[in-house]
Formats: sequence, structure tokens, C-alpha cells
Amino acid sequence: MLKRTKVKDLLALDGEKDEVLVKGWVKTRRDAKDFSFIEVNDGSCLKNIQIIANNDLKNYDEIKKITTGSSVAVNGRLVASVGGNQKYEVVATEIEIYGLAPEDFPLQKKKHTDEFLRTIAHLRPRTNKYGAAFRIRSELSYAIHKFFQGRGFKYVHTPIITGSDCEGAGEMFQVTTLDLNNIPRTKDGKIDYSQDFFGKEAHLTVSGQLNGEMYATALGDIYTFGPTFRAENSNTPRHAAEFWMIEPEMAFADIHDDMDLAEDMVRFCVKDIMENCADDLELFEKYVDPNLKATLDNIMNNDFARITYSEAIDIMKKSGKKFEYTPEYGIDLQTEHERFLAEEYFKKPVIVRDYPKEIKAFYMKQNPDGKTVAAMDVLVPRIGELIGGSQREESYEKLTARIKELGMDVKDYEGYLDTRKYGTVPHAGFGLGFERMMMLVTGISNIRDVLPFPRTPNSINF
Ligand code: 4AD
Ligand code: MG
Repeated sequence: MLKRTKVKDLLALDGEKDEVLVKGWVKTRRDAKDFSFIEVNDGSCLKNIQIIANNDLKNYDEIKKITTGSSVAVNGRLVASVGGNQKYEVVATEIEIYGLAPEDFPLQKKKHTDEFLRTIAHLRPRTNKYGAAFRIRSELSYAIHKFFQGRGFKYVHTPIITGSDCEGAGEMFQVTTLDLNNIPRTKDGKIDYSQDFFGKEAHLTVSGQLNGEMYATALGDIYTFGPTFRAENSNTPRHAAEFWMIEPEMAFADIHDDMDLAEDMVRFCVKDIMENCADDLELFEKYVDPNLKATLDNIMNNDFARITYSEAIDIMKKSGKKFEYTPEYGIDLQTEHERFLAEEYFKKPVIVRDYPKEIKAFYMKQNPDGKTVAAMDVLVPRIGELIGGSQREESYEKLTARIKELGMDVKDYEGYLDTRKYGTVPHAGFGLGFERMMMLVTGISNIRDVLPFPRTPNSINF
């Protein structure tokens, strides 16, 4: 039996073919006098294949009922197309209709808003734009693996349910099997977690970093790539409650190695997408962000700027620009600051390092100045923070002191502290928000449109 050929592979053939089998969903159908033109897309690429259905086909009456969204299997001859738009078309010898789509199929040939398409997230991958976005998402995931595997990094699967709070920011979703209508209490009125599934409080992970460090201090260079959860109640175009993060961790590395790795990774991914998703990228350049190619070329052709946090504050103070939050030494950088630095001042990605320790996580390496930590954030035009990372504090004493200083319970971090107790090494790593990288390479401006099924405050459909 003849196997189906994907449209992408058909269009790559260098010659006509007597018999091919194509399967897909109908984009449009229009009738001429003695035949019907059917545009079929199978998701393998942006392009459709045009089918010519002549009126001598035995089920021509049925074929004339084919609507947008219907699914078909077409046997036929692959011939060079006479019309200028496509390389080949298929002259059908047989058309099987799997399923018709009634006229209420929401994706009729007209332009839909992103907001509307979010309400039909289950169907939007059938549009050109979302098909392209999610093909790019797949390629970008593969590019991440190619980059790290190519450098000998080992892929570690860190747990999704966790008993510790990596970032210490308290933005965690709780995991419990307790009956919320009848919560067991201890004598002093507190929730009795000894009766919960794990015998203690549990949450969805906000980062795999702590587990990643444990593996890096055994395997050397590792990376994680998995779902991450944050119960931040911020409804912004850049935050999702469930997103994917890539977290490399390198033993025997410092903050400069970390910045080099981040920069190399971003460039590798951009290059990969430019090479392997050219058609899909063109769609985004044409309909979503007219500066997309320029942005990506800029990333490929220029080194990222590198400055310290205090230099960043100085630049913003001297700029004379009015910010909503006035830049002062000690503040956490806001998106408006990050965008100003990358978009307006440097006009390219910039890495800011050495932040005040008060605004960063407990595990970061304390710099000799006693005030700052060896943290680094990669900021990019349009998006702001793309990557956050640091060299880690490798001193058992300093790290323990910092945990205590912040009022955290040392007992919760015993395993983590063991990596410093038994053969500690300098090490560094970072976290890349995968969706932010998707936004960078596609020009899509809302994180809800690069996640197949986005989860945000008050929204969990499909
Ligand atoms: O800067 P963050 O919070 O860093 C960490 O979690 C560290 N443990 C990483 C590490 O050093 N291993 O998060 C890392 C990145 C951010 O730069 C951002 O791109 C993304 O994760 N991110 C989010 N993306 C989408 N929605 C959210 N709510 C995000 N929060 C962070
Ligand atoms: Mg951060």
C-alpha cells in the first residue's frame, strides 16, 4: 500500500511522480467549470499543496461538499504546476473524505485577532500563524538539546513536585491530597501536614536549579529543560503560571563562563531557527514584526554588551529619560529599565551583572565588596529579561550564614549544603525562559501566543 508523503517532502522532490498519497486538512476549495481546486495543508510546513479534482471522479458530488477544515486523503499524480504560485500540484485520481467540517468551523478564510484565537487554542494551530509558531517551538526545543549535547552537557530530569522553594520568592503552587473541606489540624491549630501525601508540605517547582547543582557537582556540566510553575499574580504579556525553563549548570565555572555560555546559546538558537525555519520566519517578518530579521541579524552579528548593575543605574540616571520607577541604586530592575537598556541605549542584548545581594536569591556568590552578588541577567530588546543566572556561593560557611540571615530553615537545605560540604567547587548556571526565547525569535509579543495551552491568572482552558 502506498504510504502518505508529507507536503513538505512533496515540495522538496525534484521531479514529477506518477502516484502520491497526501493527507491533510482543507484550507479552501473553489470550483471551476469542470473541476475543483482544493488547497490542502498537513501541518508539515507552511505551504499547502493544491489538488485538482476533475468532475470525472466517482464521488465528485461529495467532493463538491468539501468545506474549509474538512480532512481528506488524496491519491493522485504529482505534476509541475502551471499556475505561478506553487512548484507542484496533485491531479487527483481518488479523494477520500475522512470528515467534513460544518459551516460553523471558526477558522474560515479571514483574519482573526490573537485574542479570539486564544479562546480556540485547541484549533488555532491549524492557522498559518500558529502552525508556524508551534513548528518553530519544536525546532527551538531541538536546537536547545543540540547546543547542550554538542558541548557534552548531560540532560537531567529534575522533579516537578518539590519540598523546597528554590527562589525563596514564595510564588509556589501547593500540591496536596488533604481534604480542603476538612483540613486536619495539629493541637496548636496548624495544618497537620504529617497527614498529607508526602508527610510534609509540597509544591510545584519554580526552578530545577538546586537539583541541577547537585548533578553538576557530579556529572560536571548538566542542563534541565522542563515545565516550571509560578503563582505570580501578574497579568503581563511576559509572565505565565506554567512555562518551560532551560537551566544549565557548570562545575568549575565562574560568572564570566556563565555569560559566555548564555551568549553562545542564544546565538546558536537564533542561527538554527534562521536556517531551519526560514518559511515560517518569513511569515512573522511579514505579518507580526517587520523588524524581526533585523533583530535576529543584530544578535548574530554583534557581541552582547556587558555592564555592571551600578553602571546600568548610572546610565539610566544620566539618560534624562522619565521612568515610571526612578532608577536608584538598590532597586530591582523593572521591565521599562531592562527595555531601555537593551532597546534604546545599547540597541542590542546587554548582560547586567553584580546586583545588590538584597534583590537576588540566597544561593548567589557573594562578591568581595560585601554588597553585591555575582548575578547576571541577559536583557533583550522588546522583551527585557530573557535569562537570569549567577555564579553560586560555594563556601559552606557563607551559604549557611546567608540562609540563616534570610530566616530560612537550614534543615530544608541540608542536601543542597552537602554539595558545599563534600568537595565543593566553583560553579555557575542560569535559567532561560523558553517562551521568552520564542517571543524573541518570532516577534510574537504575548507569552499566551507562544504556549500551546497558556495558563495565566484566572485562565485555565483546555
Ligand atoms: O530569573 P529566574 O527567576 O531565575 C531562576 O529561576 C534561576 N533558578 C535560574 C538559574 O540560575 N538556574 O528565572 C529564569 C528565567 C527568567 O529570566 C525568565 O526568562 C523566565 O525564567 N521566567 C518566566 N517566564 C515566563 N513566565 C514567568 N512567570 C517567568 N518567570 C521567570
Ligand atoms: Mg530573574
